[in-house]
Amino acid sequence: MSGSTFGKVFQITTYGESHGPAVGVVIQGCPPGIEIDEAMIQEKLNRRRAGQTPGSTTRKEPDCPKILSGVFENKTTGTPIHICVENTDARSRSYEHIAHLFRPGHGDFTYEKKYGIRDYRGGGRASARETVARVAAGAVADLLLKSKGISITSHTLQIGDVCARNYDSAVVGKNPFCCGDMEAAAAMEEQLARVKASQDSLGGVVEIRAEKVPPGLGDPVFDKLDADIAKAMMGIGAVKAVEIGAGTLAAGMKGSENNDQMSDSGFLSNNAGGILAGISNGEPIIVRVYVKPIPSIGKKLSTVTRTGEPAVISVKGRHDICAIPRINPVCESMMALVLADHLLRQNAVAFSSPGFLP
Ligand SMILES: Cc1cc2nc3c(=O)[nH]c(=O)nc-3n(C[C@H](O)[C@H](O)[C@H](O)COP(=O)(O)O)c2cc1C
Repeated sequence: MSGSTFGKVFQITTYGESHGPAVGVVIQGCPPGIEIDEAMIQEKLNRRRAGQTPGSTTRKEPDCPKILSGVFENKTTGTPIHICVENTDARSRSYEHIAHLFRPGHGDFTYEKKYGIRDYRGGGRASARETVARVAAGAVADLLLKSKGISITSHTLQIGDVCARNYDSAVVGKNPFCCGDMEAAAAMEEQLARVKASQDSLGGVVEIRAEKVPPGLGDPVFDKLDADIAKAMMGIGAVKAVEIGAGTLAAGMKGSENNDQMSDSGFLSNNAGGILAGISNGEPIIVRVYVKPIPSIGKKLSTVTRTGEPAVISVKGRHDICAIPRINPVCESMMALVLADHLLRQNAVAFSSPGFLP
């Protein structure tokens, strides 16, 4: 009912608000014996952290994860893992001027209608601060996947109207936007500066790839792998659409173009994005996530007060200009959580066929 739990076997429950004392996660179902690399969890959290990129909020949090249970001598014990991250730089006073107003594009109106009470400070539970918990859990899932040779990466395809024209994996880590095209990255930076000066915001597109996923993951008919990935990504704030493989382009193709033909050495193309009939086919899983512009902007917009009177709002405070690339590690984490869950679920299906898992 609560909506804060995700996954069936590798299951996470996140808690915490943007301006509360902490955010965190409880992971259940993680097998024992997984080597916990705290530096790797910290590195993932650092990539999500504010203040690292030109379009990011200046909120400065160290985001140091505290592992409170489930790990002994650097290894998971099979018991619930609790990871807690303190909020240390929340400035709640900067939200007082808009406490009685609904921010257009944010969850203020719908949270108030649903719960009748709302933590206006920083968006409460609708804040991207909650994604700290997902990234911490995703890092543990990632360690589990790595132990089976599966890797997950992401890169930025578009910010605003600037699109990457090339993809060179070697340059993704060499520009602040995680873009595989240095020229596009420079144009993204220039565009962000312009949009920031006009007190506006931007959206964009991120591509996530999972490699070396074994065939067989995904539980038709309601827990198909692509359905669970779409749910995982759509659950991230600001995500408005998810595409797998050829995605929406498939609608305009002929069957002869779209079908991934097969030979004795495997598939000859990957329009399916690594998933057929809701089950992984062994090819790379390719997902694109479409992200809307950040709703909190300085530009004046029409809104209403909590009691319905017309008003004008201009959001000050510290906000991102664009959720990309801070969203990239969040998307990777959600992918890791889905794959870890389905990998463990497939263990049950493959019980009588040894050899499925190495
Ligand atoms: C990494 C990340 C950073 C974000 N930063 C902000 C922000 O600084 N200000 C803001 O208003 N929204 C921000 N958002 C977007 C809101 O969380 C989101 O738009 C809001 O929860 C409403 O949900 P919806 O857009 O899915 O409808 C961010 C989202 C992500 C994923």
